[in-house]
Amino acid sequence: MKRLDGKTALITGAARGIGRAFAEAYIGEGARVAIADIDFARARETARDLGDAAIAVELDVTRQDSIDAAVAAAADQLGQIDILINNAAIFTAAPIVEISRADYARTFEINVAGTLFMMQAVARHMIDRGIRGRIINMASQAGRRGESLVAVYCATKAAVISLTQSAGLNLIRHGINVNAIAPGVVDGEHWDGVDAFFAKYEGKAPGQKKREVGEAVPYGRMGRAGDLTGMAIFLASDEAEYVVAQCYNVDGGQWMS
Ligand SMILES: NC(=O)c1ccc[n+]([C@@H]2O[C@H](COP(=O)([O-])OP(=O)(O)OC[C@H]3O[C@@H](n4cnc5c(N)ncnc54)[C@H](O)[C@@H]3O)[C@@H](O)[C@H]2O)c1
Repeated sequence: MKRLDGKTALITGAARGIGRAFAEAYIGEGARVAIADIDFARARETARDLGDAAIAVELDVTRQDSIDAAVAAAADQLGQIDILINNAAIFTAAPIVEISRADYARTFEINVAGTLFMMQAVARHMIDRGIRGRIINMASQAGRRGESLVAVYCATKAAVISLTQSAGLNLIRHGINVNAIAPGVVDGEHWDGVDAFFAKYEGKAPGQKKREVGEAVPYGRMGRAGDLTGMAIFLASDEAEYVVAQCYNVDGGQWMS
């Protein structure tokens, strides 16, 4: 008996990185998974790699019509949605005096509105069908405190933690548990972009920031996507039935609270 036998999950931003690792881990625990991503070509490739238990769904979390279509497609092809992981997000960095309204709006639209309206669409589906579902939002250590060059991204992740608390309190009456995971620094393609921002604003050589943050982690190295899968499985499993509106740090000891 596997821990997610017979369950179905929709994972946003699962074409690559942490979302892909979650999809693979869920399938390993017996679930079927919808790989939902704005990069549909890569989502299809990922679903093909992961085999029969994976399907690809096109999704832009900034568009309500796309959210509604993706939720309907996943529910149709998987039968229903038991688990949602709100994982899609973008990173941005700039000194306060250089932040543009356009970058602010785009980052909040994906990281915050995307999380909220995906929760809403999937919660409606779960309530309509009487599904005692699970929602897991991807926060970050960046949501626990500000960072000099990372005001907008940090604010979006603080908002994700707050939305998790409010949605957790509101949806538990329907038997839907909402929780979040706050990773620290996790190696992958995402970090190539982060590293480039710091190379630009701190004058660092390519790869230098990534090396420095890895060395600063109390555990002694950067995280890997696989370091997060245990928590994602736990929060979706029967063992987490009484866990409500929490945000768990999985960060090698970076943050305590
Ligand atoms: N990597 C880290 O160091 C780290 C640390 C803390 C938190 N996180 C969080 O973990 C999650 C996954 O991070 P990752 O490193 O795998 O990122 P990633 O950049 O590798 O993957 C993000 C995915 O989201 C997709 N996406 C972007 N915009 C979208 C949209 N509008 N609609 C649908 N999909 C969209 C991308 O195509 C991509 O496949 C994110 O929420 C991120 O903020 C990452």
